[in-house]
Amino acid sequence: MAFADSAAIEAVELVKQFGSLTAVGGVSFAVQPGELFGLLGPNGSGKTTTIHMLCTLLRPTTGTARVNSCDVVAQPLQVRRAIGLVFQETTLDRDLTAYENLLFTAYLHHIPRADAQERILELLKVMELADRRNELVRKLSGGLKRRLDIAQGVLHRPKILFLDEPTIGLDPRSRAAVWGFIGRLRQGGMTILHTTHYLEEAERSDRVGIIDRGKLIALGPPVELKKASNRPSLNEVFLHLTGRKIQESQTE
Ligand SMILES: Nc1ncnc2c1ncn2[C@@H]1O[C@H](COP(=O)(O)OP(=O)(O)OP(=O)(O)O)[C@@H](O)[C@H]1O
Ligand SMILES: [Mg+2]
Repeated sequence: MAFADSAAIEAVELVKQFGSLTAVGGVSFAVQPGELFGLLGPNGSGKTTTIHMLCTLLRPTTGTARVNSCDVVAQPLQVRRAIGLVFQETTLDRDLTAYENLLFTAYLHHIPRADAQERILELLKVMELADRRNELVRKLSGGLKRRLDIAQGVLHRPKILFLDEPTIGLDPRSRAAVWGFIGRLRQGGMTILHTTHYLEEAERSDRVGIIDRGKLIALGPPVELKKASNRPSLNEVFLHLTGRKIQESQTE
């Protein structure tokens, strides 16, 4: 498969092995600029490993990938400049306030102080965190922390955003708040790749890649995947393709 010039993200036969374990076993897909792309798969299927290769945090064993037209192995700095990443696990400093965490992130991205203050206050407002800005992160609920994680990932206004399970463990209200914000980013034209094992969240994507045991087993708009396998939900599409439910573990 050749690289397409216009793609925001392109993975070609990506493989990652950890010793004898093949975490990602030859994954290829492309994400177009402005697209919301969902990588859907059960625990341990290789979602985070794929994201980490695309974000230059893990070197592919074989295969290649380009992000913002830059090769993830040969041009890691250029890739990092174009992306934002929200890790599956929080990266906030619990002993700083919400505001201080974002200010620290602004320093890391060399955002001028005046701009930083303005952007931080705006983001805190959008995330409904403005009145909690001077509270220590350790005192915030899981939902508020997750929103702060996401604010941290977009503070530098990346072209391409990677969200690794942005709503994991959140209650419906917090999930709705996060998805409201993702909707705004999408309207602004940001390219977003998110991972999830929540079927209803995958359905919001323009296109979904279903990953199972390190292999992409289906790729397309949710409506088409359902139509192609004549199933009413992505859950049943997954069941149809693998014989297992998506919530079941990878281990046999
Ligand atoms: N650094 C590592 N060393 C060894 N094995 C690893 C490492 N990172 C991931 N793995 C293994 O690779 C496989 C894929 O893991 P990965 O974290 O990519 O899955 P995932 O789809 O993100 O799962 P989850 O939904 O639980 O986050 C798993 O079997 C995992 O145990
Ligand atoms: Mg993961």
